[in-house]
Amino acid sequence: MSTPIETPELIHIEVREHYSERARNVGSSCCGSNGGSNCSDAITLYGAEELALLPDDMAGATWGCGNPTAIAALEPGSVVLDLGSGGGFDVVLAAKKVGSTGFVYGVDMTDDMLELARRNAANAGVTNVEFLKGQIEDIPLPEKTVDVIISNCVINLSPDKGQTLTEAYRVLRPGGKLAVSDIVVDGVLDDLPVSEAQIRAALSWAGCIAGALTVDQYRALLASAGFVDIQVDVQHRYAIEEFGEDAQMAAQGIPAEVAKELVRRFTSSNISAHRPV
Ligand SMILES: C[S@@+](CC[C@H](N)C(=O)[O-])C[C@H]1O[C@@H](n2cnc3c(N)ncnc32)[C@H](O)[C@@H]1O
Repeated sequence: MSTPIETPELIHIEVREHYSERARNVGSSCCGSNGGSNCSDAITLYGAEELALLPDDMAGATWGCGNPTAIAALEPGSVVLDLGSGGGFDVVLAAKKVGSTGFVYGVDMTDDMLELARRNAANAGVTNVEFLKGQIEDIPLPEKTVDVIISNCVINLSPDKGQTLTEAYRVLRPGGKLAVSDIVVDGVLDDLPVSEAQIRAALSWAGCIAGALTVDQYRALLASAGFVDIQVDVQHRYAIEEFGEDAQMAAQGIPAEVAKELVRRFTSSNISAHRPV
């Protein structure tokens, strides 16, 4: 599915349709639009010990690219918010980690995902969670409500990442932490024989790549939202096969050598930052 420059509304519609379908077909491959595997399987991302905390049938209900609950180092009693909570995988995991004195909110704009998440939470027997329908650009929570924000492979999908990070800052308590996994471009996309606009247009937005920020853009948007202690750590560099978009890029006129080179610049990264005390 190629993605020409679109309006925010069209991006939301495209993304919602994509993940509605994923929610109705649990176990289908990850973020990737064309059968790519750019979101690794649950065992690779989470490890057996963490997976043992969840019901077996939840293992297919993850479309992330990292383990934000591990980046966050969650502690009992914390209030956590998961931006783009999908099937509730990280919410349920976080609920186990913060325990009965803590609470976890998940926000997602896709009804089928919210339904799946509520079902998964009930099956897992966690009651310290609530799934809210909403867009991460307009978080349905009051200011200074949460201690930790997590998110797994979602911020790249937002058509207004500056607004999303400003909202994240608003709902965090002073001293609160942002700990997310996301697809990030390490380096630039404007030094190739094909323009950055052409490259992004040939990639899939819903597949988590066309909208990916560069490391520098991520840092700048976090800083302008007010965050401090900003860290971006590359965890994995994707090869072209992992995206399953080589045919699509060729069809859009991106030469194979360029496609090969640029895809390695797409990474799964851990991003962390704090709201100052
Ligand atoms: C790649 S999936 C990740 C789901 C989950 N975090 C996980 O790791 O399995 C993206 C999720 O974010 C949601 N989403 C994408 N853009 C959103 C937005 N702007 N506002 C709210 N939810 C959004 C989608 O509905 C989908 O459930």
